[in-house]
Amino acid sequence: MVEREVRGIRLKVRDDVYDPAEDTLLLLDALEDQELRGKRCLDVGTGSGVIAIRLAKECEFTVAVDLLEAPALLAKENSKINGVYLEVVQGDVLTAFREGSFDVVTFNPPYLPEDPDPSSGITYSWAGGFMGREPLDRFLADLPRVLKVGGLGLFLFSDLNDSEWVLRTCNKKMVCEVVRRRKLSFHEIYVARAQNLPR
Ligand SMILES: C[S@@+](CC[C@H](N)C(=O)[O-])C[C@H]1O[C@@H](n2cnc3c(N)ncnc32)[C@H](O)[C@@H]1O
Repeated sequence: MVEREVRGIRLKVRDDVYDPAEDTLLLLDALEDQELRGKRCLDVGTGSGVIAIRLAKECEFTVAVDLLEAPALLAKENSKINGVYLEVVQGDVLTAFREGSFDVVTFNPPYLPEDPDPSSGITYSWAGGFMGREPLDRFLADLPRVLKVGGLGLFLFSDLNDSEWVLRTCNKKMVCEVVRRRKLSFHEIYVARAQNLPR
C-alpha cells in the first residue's frame, strides 16, 4: 500500500478508495476558518479519512461515515497512523445518525453527473447520478435534522450540479453561502457553509 502526506496528515492510499484531490483540499481550506474545539463533528463520504482526521485533531469527538466498506476500513487505519480517535461507520449519507447529534458536518460528495457502476466501488467517489446531485440532495434534505441548532455544515459542489439550485435548496431550511471556490480545468467547485438557524 502506498503512503502519502496531505497537509501534514499521513495517509495510506489504495486503488479502490478516493485519493485526496483539489476538492478535498478546498474543503480542508474552508475548515481553517471554523472553530472546532469542543465540537461534535461528522465527516460524510470520508474516503481515506483525511477530512475526518483533520476534524479529529480539534473536535471533542469525531465520527466518519462512508457508503462502502473499503473506505471505512482505510479511514480507521489512517486515523491510527495519525494518532487520533475516529468512530467509523458504514452507512448512506446521514441515515445512521440521530437528531441533533453534531455541531459540525462535512461532505465532499461524488458530484459528476453520471451513474456509479455497482461492480466498481471507486466510481461511487465521483459519480453522483442525476445532475451529479443524488447523494448531495439527500444530504441537504437531512442535514437540519442531525445538526444541533446553530450547527454548521460544510459541503462541496460544482457548477455541473446547477449551483443556484443547490444554494436555493440549502437556503430553504438553513442559512447558506459559498465560502470557497476554485476553477478547475472543465468546471468550477465551491464549498458552501450551511448554518442550522431557525428561519
Ligand atoms: C469525492 S470522495 C471524497 C473522499 C474524501 N472525503 C476526500 O475528500 O478526499 C466521495 C466519497 O463519498 C462516498 N460516498 C458516495 N456515496 C455515498 C453515500 N450515499 N453515503 C456515504 N458516502 C458516500 C464514496 O464512497 C467516497 O468515499
